[in-house]
Amino acid sequence: MRGGGVVAFPTETVYGLGANAFDARAVARVFEIKQRPSFDPLIVHVADDETLMKVVESVPDAARALIERFWPGPLTLVLRKRDAVPSIVTAGLPTVGVRMPAHPVARALLERAGVPLAAPSANPFGYLSPTRAEHVERMLGERVDAILDGGATTLGLESTIVMLEPQPTLLRCGALPAEEIEAVIGPLAREVGSESAPLAPGRLETHYAPTTPIRVLDGDVPERERPGAGLLAFQTAVDGYDALRVLSRSGDLREAAAHLFDYLHELDAMGLTRIDVQAVPAHGIGAAIADRLRRASHR
Ligand code: TXA
Ligand code: MG
Repeated sequence: MRGGGVVAFPTETVYGLGANAFDARAVARVFEIKQRPSFDPLIVHVADDETLMKVVESVPDAARALIERFWPGPLTLVLRKRDAVPSIVTAGLPTVGVRMPAHPVARALLERAGVPLAAPSANPFGYLSPTRAEHVERMLGERVDAILDGGATTLGLESTIVMLEPQPTLLRCGALPAEEIEAVIGPLAREVGSESAPLAPGRLETHYAPTTPIRVLDGDVPERERPGAGLLAFQTAVDGYDALRVLSRSGDLREAAAHLFDYLHELDAMGLTRIDVQAVPAHGIGAAIADRLRRASHR
């Protein structure tokens, strides 16, 4: 990685595709490999506070409170960047998204590389995020220098992204429920969507999408419409589909989140005409599941 390599590695959320954040050429390769548009900034991963201070100008009090409470973990903070961070990393923004991952493999990699790693999720732009090394292998295997296999990720959904200034704002719901953040720093504003100048570039309406068309159900599907299609159920199985996955038999939203992308990868590989998905309760981590499903089904 010190020599400009691009390596996929596990985090507790999803697999990332990492390059030295201070090496603009290596970061350019990440964009190229993912076919990611240059307007979409990357998240910088740090091992410790010392590295954090090489990446950001300052840490406001509210950010410090969140760091103490939630790092290492699935929370990305958007803070003012230092000049040393090349503008390709932040898509020209004066701010940078940073997080300290909790996964032992990610931490070992960051410590041994000795540099912060700019890493988006390790999937082609717009496609399902990877929660296993096999997903990365299948989607990008030919193009990356190495893949570190840490097994299935435990959380299965991307980090929650919060911007601190001018006011605390939720930019992306994710593995850390917004309620838990609000319990520490008070109410978060929700991003008001502006297509021309979004606060979180890259939060596109169509995203996280399998190749197979997907639709989120608001009730039961007539039996005659089931053959040929697959069902991603929340808690209870339904007969008549060609393929079936159940996110969590006990209705546990965390378990459902951990299975979401994995099951969608599986269903997407089956050549089905359509994937039907049951809606999930949109509280706690369910809000992030609902967000991913809405974007995955948006055409
Ligand atoms: O859990 C995760 O966050 C994973 C793992 C690998 O850490 N990473 C991830 O990265 O989901 P990615 O590239 O798929 O999503 C990064 C998103 C961007 O699309 C953008 O919306 C937001 O983070 N972002 C990054 N830097 C930002 C900035 N300076 N201002 C606003 N939003 C930013
Ligand atoms: Mg992504």
